[in-house]
Amino acid sequence: MSPQGVEPPWALLAEVTHACPLHCPYCSNPLELVRRSAELDTAEWVRLMAEAGDLGVVHAHISGGEPLLRPDLAEIVAAAERAGIYTQLVTSGVGLDADRLGALVDAGLHSVQLSVQDATAAASDRIAGRRSFADKERAAEVVRAAGLPLGLNVVLHRHNLTGLDGIIRLGVEWGAERIELANTQFYGWALRNRAALLPGREALAAAEETVRRWRERSPIELIWVVPDYYEGVAKPCMGGWGNRSITIAPDGRVLPCPVAYALPALSPPNARDHSLAWIWAHSPAFNAYRGTEWMREPCRTCPQREVDFGGCRCQAFALTGDPARTDPACRLSPDHHLIRELTETPADADFVYRRPGA
Ligand code: SF4
Ligand code: FES
Repeated sequence: MSPQGVEPPWALLAEVTHACPLHCPYCSNPLELVRRSAELDTAEWVRLMAEAGDLGVVHAHISGGEPLLRPDLAEIVAAAERAGIYTQLVTSGVGLDADRLGALVDAGLHSVQLSVQDATAAASDRIAGRRSFADKERAAEVVRAAGLPLGLNVVLHRHNLTGLDGIIRLGVEWGAERIELANTQFYGWALRNRAALLPGREALAAAEETVRRWRERSPIELIWVVPDYYEGVAKPCMGGWGNRSITIAPDGRVLPCPVAYALPALSPPNARDHSLAWIWAHSPAFNAYRGTEWMREPCRTCPQREVDFGGCRCQAFALTGDPARTDPACRLSPDHHLIRELTETPADADFVYRRPGA
């Protein structure tokens, strides 16, 4: 326990860069990305990994953007390893060859999570906005050849849900041990593409049935991230605000979740100015929605409040303009009609690809 009785964070999301070779319409990174010139340098990341280890972090997702675009990635991984932190690389696979992976493994990398957009090259490349499927296939091969655990991360939406069976089969063929099937969360750039991405209820039901059938016949671990727009229940976002997880943005801002950039009054502290220990325990940003004291009705007296923590602050803000309101995904929320209207009359639109600088 910290001196203030706040449990230490378990997980770190280290967003080492926002730069990315892909252009996915479902990107949940903020509309305004951090410029490369504003990124933390190697020495700063090395210091922060040591601080994170001292604070109690045991697991780090090294993510982005595309973390392989950082030439000093192995040094960052090595610093995490020295701090006793298990590292997982979250990557598009573009740029991951045997030499690069070998250097990361030597530095202490423990596992790789590879993003895949769909089951075939044509469909996957269409969603990614560029050719990249072949890079992913090669990346999966080198990860398995190195003996590292491989996970796939597939963001699901209207354009790939019906191909879910093929996506899971691909994961099995590529030797993945686990597939995270993440129904799109509508934040950041993805919110701009909501009309193009929001699936129909029937397609979701069929996809859930597909997952159920695979679970019966295959040892592959399938994680189904609930499509909260359709479930009428709020997700326990981030395992609770300031409860389990800490995010460091490419420019050193420290956030309770990777989408909280958008919350206007949050003023995220920066790891260039404060220690992670102070930020975690004392900063107004991390205490803003910690626990249950901040809640209003109906969450304040709801028996679920310690289970789902009132849902997602970023979704409440995105849909109502007020991050302290009950997440509109919850059917008890006075704003639930905002979600119901969207799912009852799904619109359609073309993808708006993410092309920074374009
Ligand atoms: Fe969760 Fe609040 Fe809904 Fe209760 S009212 S189920 S605490 S989001
Ligand atoms: Fe920020 Fe849910 S995404 S609290």
